[in-house]
Order: sequence, then C-alpha cells, then structure tokens
Amino acid sequence: MAAVLLILSGATAILQADLLPDKKFHSLLLPPVNFTIKITGLAKVLLQWEPDPRQERRDVNLAYRVRINAPQEDDYETMDTESQCVTILHKGFSASVQTIIWDEYSVPASSWVSAELKEPPDHLGSPGTSIVNLTCTTNAVVSNYMHLRPYQMSLRCTWLVGQDAPEDTQYFLYYRYGSWTEECQEYSKDTLKRNIACWFPRTFINSKARGRLAVHVNGSSKHAAIKPFDQLLALQDIDQENPPVNVTAGIEGTRLSIQWEKPVSAFPISCFHYEVKIHNIRKDYVQTEKMMINTFSWIIDDVSKHSVQVRAAVHTVCGKKGHWSEWSQPIYVGNDEQAPSTEWFIIVLMSAICFVLLMLSLICRICHLWTKLFPPVPAPKSNIKDLFGSTNYEKAGSSETEIEAISYVEEAGLENLEDSVF
Ligand SMILES: *[C@@H]1O[C@H](CO)[C@@H](O)[C@H](O)[C@H]1NC(C)=O
Ligand SMILES: *[C@@H]1O[C@H](CO)[C@@H](O)[C@H](O)[C@H]1NC(C)=O
Ligand SMILES: *[C@@H]1O[C@H](CO)[C@@H](O)[C@H](O)[C@H]1NC(C)=O
Ligand SMILES: *[C@@H]1O[C@H](CO)[C@@H](O)[C@H](O)[C@H]1NC(C)=O
Repeated sequence: MAAVLLILSGATAILQADLLPDKKFHSLLLPPVNFTIKITGLAKVLLQWEPDPRQERRDVNLAYRVRINAPQEDDYETMDTESQCVTILHKGFSASVQTIIWDEYSVPASSWVSAELKEPPDHLGSPGTSIVNLTCTTNAVVSNYMHLRPYQMSLRCTWLVGQDAPEDTQYFLYYRYGSWTEECQEYSKDTLKRNIACWFPRTFINSKARGRLAVHVNGSSKHAAIKPFDQLLALQDIDQENPPVNVTAGIEGTRLSIQWEKPVSAFPISCFHYEVKIHNIRKDYVQTEKMMINTFSWIIDDVSKHSVQVRAAVHTVCGKKGHWSEWSQPIYVGNDEQAPSTEWFIIVLMSAICFVLLMLSLICRICHLWTKLFPPVPAPKSNIKDLFGSTNYEKAGSSETEIEAISYVEEAGLENLEDSVF
C-alpha cells in the first residue's frame, strides 16, 4: 500500500516537472520590436508590434503585457501583436509593451518598449475657443429599412460657444461609432450664425448598443485657431427612451381606464415599466402610479376634467440604466363645465333664496316696528277732523280728510296680516 502511494506521488512530481515551461525554456524573453501607435479614427488608436525575430518560441505561448501610460493608465495582456484603444487624444497618447509567457509568471518578463503620440498639432488652438458643455442624447426612431432592422437611432447634440471664440467662428461636429464616422448635416445656429446644436435624424449607432460614442467638434475662424474638442460618451447614459404612444383614456361611470402602447424602441414590451400621472384639474390634485403592464383602471370620486400622462423606462435587467422617458402628451378626460357649473348654479340658487328670505324677514321686521311705532289709532276720524278743522279750517274740506284716514287704516290692517303670516 505504502509502495503504491510512493509510486503515485512520484508520478505526479514528474508530471508537474513536465508542465513547467522553464524546464524547457532556457533563454531570456526579448522585448517586442517595431512598436508603433497609429490614429485610426476619432479617439481611436491602433498599437502594433512584432516579436523579436531572435526570440525562442519553441513550446511556449508568447504573450504581451500592454501598459497605457497616458492619457489614462490601463494595463492588460494579450496574445495578439496588435491592440486597439479608444480614448481621448487631446493630450497625446503613450504606451509600453513587454513580452511575457501566457499564464506563466515564473519566467521574468522582457524589458519594456515604449512609444508615444505627441499632442496632435491640430489639437493646438487658442485657449477658450473650443466648445463647452457638450451634451448628446440618442432616441430610437422607426427605421427606413424595416426589413433589415426595425429601429435606428437619432442623435442630438448641443453645446456652448467658447467664451473667447471670435464672432466668425464656425463649429463642425463629427461622431464615430465602431468604424463609422459621420459629419453633422443639420445644425442649429445662434444669433451670430455659429453652429450650437446638431441633429442626426438617423445614425449607424446600434439601437441596443452599450459601447461608447466618440464625438469630435472642431472649428474654423479667420482670426484664431479653434481648439477642437473630443468626448467619449457611454451610449447607455445618453440614450433617452421615447414616451409611450397611442395613449387613450375614458371614463365609464366612475371608472377611469387608460391604455397605451410601448414606446418606439428596439427593446421588447417585456422590458418596460411605466408610470401614470393623473391630474384632477379642478382640485389641482396629482396622483402617480407605477406599473408593469400597459393598461390601468382606477375609480375616481369625481368625473370632472382630468389630464393623463404616461412615461416609460427600460428595466435594468434588459441592460439599461432605467432612465425615465419624457411624459407623453397630456390627454384630457371628464367633464370640464357641467360638474362645476351645476354646483355653482346650486350655490347661486341657494344664496339667492337665502337673500330673498333675509330681505323679506327684514322688511317684515321693519313693518312690525312701524306698526308698533304708529299703531293704528282706534278712533282717528274725529281727532284728525278736529286737527285739520282747527288749523286749516278754510282750506280743507271734511270729505278729503276722511278718505285719507280710511286709507291709512286699511294699509295698517294689511301689514298686520302679513306680519302674522311670517
Ligand atoms: C521592423 O521594421 C523594419 C523597418 O520598417 C523592417 O525592416 C523589419 O522587417 C520590421 N521587423 C519585423 C520583425 O517586422
Ligand atoms: C457649463 O458647464 C459648467 C461646468 O462644467 C457649469 O458650471 C456651467 O454652469 C455650465 N453652463 C451652462 C450654461 O450650462
Ligand atoms: C475637423 O475634423 C474632421 C475630422 O477629423 C476633419 O476632416 C476636418 O478637416 C476638421 N476641420 C477643421 C476645420 O479642422
Ligand atoms: C397607434 O395608433 C395608430 C392609429 O390608430 C396605429 O396606426 C399605430 O400602429 C399605433 N401605434 C402602435 C405603436 O401601436
């Protein structure tokens, strides 16, 4: 038993010794030769090198460690003799490479060879002339070539003119996606006719892309060299989801139901979730609801006018950051005039009735007082006759005063009657 174990362990030791390359690899690793850096596109360089022809390669996997020194440090290994690198090249680019053996760290790596790109001459320009605050967004649009691919991306970028850019400055925007580079054809201008925004109705950008978009804005002027501007944008971050389409809403009784379609987007319907915003315009009350499906119904307590809007976002599981789209255009449901006007009518009617009642009771009170102040005199005829008779004897005839007295008594009686009614 012990003998068997001994033989087994001996066998594994021999096996391990066989696998170790340094048992066979006796020479030192030589650095690569002819290392070059070439600009191959906007914000894109190609690094190339060759193994030294004197390098012994028998039974080993030669590989290379690439180190980017500027503008941004990076470190990686490859078995290729070239490597592509996407980065901003404003401030030049420098990198080093050394020979290693793939997955074998006991053999010391070769020395480094380095190369660099100086700040490109066309990146020199007067300070303050380059654009600032570049922002770009992409939007899915229905493709002109439905059969090839149903959706394409549009691209819109805006920027501000450099504060020291001469008045005659003109800016030009380019984007690169993969191997495609395009110059903008549709610019918007400021009051000095300088381009300040750009619109690509359709681009080569893949509608589900997660890569990076390179944007380059250079310019020209008779009075100054315009400093170009480069930016790399993560497509995930700049993609603006479209709002849902065909939003419809209706009220049946007190049930408000809303339907909509998924936005124009390469993402399938299962990737979307939504938010519905219902605004009761009369009460100025807003309610929002999140949901996974594209219909929604809700019991409302009054059927006055409501506005309804919906927005959409792609779930993070579908590979997006889940930014909300803009709200859809508001659509209106419910009665605008009727409900409030009937209420107003009732209020006005009620106050009118109250007013009339109040006035009537006031009048009656005044009348009551009147009757109390000047109670009907039990026997006015003789008194008045005497009064008038004594003071104005020659002028007034007795028949005239009699009529006056009678009419007064009648009026007082009538008012007493009304008083008793209320
Ligand atoms: C390196 O470059 C030189 C000159 O361009 C060329 O003659 C030589 O063949 C290259 N070496 C290798 C290994 O490609
Ligand atoms: C432009 O960007 C700078 C910082 O990047 C910010 O301070 C400034 O407010 C921005 N200007 C405008 C008009 O957005
Ligand atoms: C701007 O950049 C593009 C792309 O690199 C180049 O073709 C063009 O000549 C440049 N224009 C100016 C005015 O520098
Ligand atoms: C929206 O409605 C129109 C007309 O009713 C229809 O042609 C279109 O296909 C609908 N859009 C979607 C995305 O369903």
